[in-house]
Formats: sequence, C-alpha cells, structure tokens
Amino acid sequence: MDYLLNRNFLLLLTVGAIINPRVQGTLGEPKVPRTVEACVGAHTTISCTFHTDAKWPKVSWCFGKTSDFNGCKKIEFHSSNGSSVSHYHEDKERTASYLTIRNVTFNDSGWYFCEVTQDIPQLIKNYSNGSELVIYSPTESNLEVNTTYSNTTCGKILAFIVLFLCINWTIFYSHS
Ligand SMILES: *[C@@H]1O[C@H](CO)[C@@H](O)[C@H](O)[C@H]1NC(C)=O
Ligand SMILES: *[C@@H]1O[C@H](CO)[C@@H](O)[C@H](O)[C@H]1NC(C)=O
Ligand SMILES: *[C@@H]1O[C@H](CO)[C@@H](O)[C@H](O)[C@H]1NC(C)=O
Ligand SMILES: *[C@@H]1O[C@H](CO)[C@@H](O)[C@H](O)[C@H]1NC(C)=O
Ligand SMILES: *[C@@H]1O[C@H](CO)[C@@H](O)[C@H](O)[C@H]1NC(C)=O
Ligand SMILES: *[C@@H]1O[C@H](CO)[C@@H](O)[C@H](O)[C@H]1NC(C)=O
Repeated sequence: MDYLLNRNFLLLLTVGAIINPRVQGTLGEPKVPRTVEACVGAHTTISCTFHTDAKWPKVSWCFGKTSDFNGCKKIEFHSSNGSSVSHYHEDKERTASYLTIRNVTFNDSGWYFCEVTQDIPQLIKNYSNGSELVIYSPTESNLEVNTTYSNTTCGKILAFIVLFLCINWTIFYSHS
C-alpha cells in the first residue's frame, strides 16, 4: 500500500512539473513553455494548457518569426496540395492541445502561439505568450569542439527519460 502511494505521488510530481495546470477564471491565459529546443530532423511537441468551462473549446496555433502575436500566421494542419504527410500534427484534449512539428528544420525556429476560443456560455478568446522554438544542429555538435552547449541540449530529453527510469527502478527495488 505504502509502495503504491509513494509511487503514485512521485508520478504525480513528475507529471505535475511538466504540465503545471493552474486553474483560474472561466478562460485563463493559455500556457505554453517559454522555450522548446529541438535538433534538426527530430520531431518536437509544444504543449498548450488552459482552463475552460466549455465542452469543446476551439484551439488554433499560430507561428511567427517574432515574439509578437500580431505578426503570426495560422498553422494549417492539412497540406493543401494533397501531400500525405503533414509537417504539423495536433493532439487534443479538453483542456490541452499538443502541436507536433515533424522533421524540424531551421525554418521552424521562431515563436508559436496557441489561441483558445470558447463560445459557451459566452464568446471569449485568449491567446498564449509565444513559445520560442530553438533548433540545434546535431551534426554541428559532432564536428566542432566548441559545442558543449548544443551537445547538452540535444541530450536533455534522453537524460530526462533516464532519470524517470531511475526513479521507478529505485522505488521498485527499495520495496522488494
Ligand atoms: C487572457 O486571460 C488573462 C487572465 O485571465 C487576462 O488577464 C487577459 O486579459 C486575457 N487576454 C485576452 C486577450 O482576453
Ligand atoms: C506542397 O506544399 C508544401 C508547402 O505547403 C510545399 O513545400 C510542397 O513543395 C508542395 N508540394 C507540391 C507537389 O506542390
Ligand atoms: C527530414 O527533412 C530533410 C530535409 O528537410 C530530409 O532530407 C529528410 O529526408 C527528412 N527525413 C524524414 C525522416 O522525413
Ligand atoms: C527555408 O526557407 C527558405 C525561404 O523561405 C527556403 O528557400 C528553404 O528551402 C527552406 N528550407 C527548408 C529546409 O525548408
Ligand atoms: C506572458 O508574458 C508576460 C510578459 O512577459 C508575463 O508577465 C506573463 O507572466 C506571461 N504569462 C505566462 C502565462 O507565462
Ligand atoms: C565558443 O562559442 C562561444 C559562444 O558561441 C564563443 O563566444 C567563443 O568565442 C567560442 N570559442 C571558440 C574557441 O571558438
């Protein structure tokens, strides 16, 4: 019993640290991470979390080369010319939206905004601050000596997974 409680608590802590939902008002400001880092060729996901009383709020994503929301262009999820694999993908939950950018290139660097629209009980729109996507080149970091920075950022996701596995492993063995 203790073991289960402990484990769930840690899981909650881990998940909570990533999502960190803060409940406020009927439609608070949607939240996105301040910056997201990705290596060229990788897939990356930007999360947008919000609080709403509406059943099916509409979420749209917008991309711009500056941190100003007014200069951004709406992201289309279906390629207009019938190419089968879209560069962008969206996963939706009632109070969250996840934008996945596949096979990122340097052209994807910039700011991403999410805008939430709720129409019931009344029409309200609110948009997030920009989430800056920073792209690193993995080949660069293999070739150059002066690359500690890009090396560590590209290794961060892996480090996180390893840490997560370690936590679970520790819990498992300390109780058996
Ligand atoms: C978005 O929500 C925040 C917090 O509720 C509020 O302060 C802000 O004015 C809202 N922005 C817009 C554009 O409605
Ligand atoms: C389809 O559109 C994408 C961008 O919207 C463009 O990069 C690509 O070259 C287009 N493909 C064809 C066959 O027109
Ligand atoms: C990713 O994009 C690059 C260039 O944009 C292309 O050369 C490469 O084949 C793509 N990789 C995948 C898995 O689609
Ligand atoms: C990036 O954008 C420039 C100009 O819009 C274009 O010429 C180039 O092909 C794009 N590169 C990739 C990898 O999509
Ligand atoms: C959005 O940016 C403003 C100004 O930088 C900041 O005060 C505010 O806390 C940010 N909102 C969120 C949800 O991070
Ligand atoms: C290493 O990179 C930093 C920041 O990009 C730069 O200021 C510095 O001059 C570089 N050092 C060498 C030896 O290239």
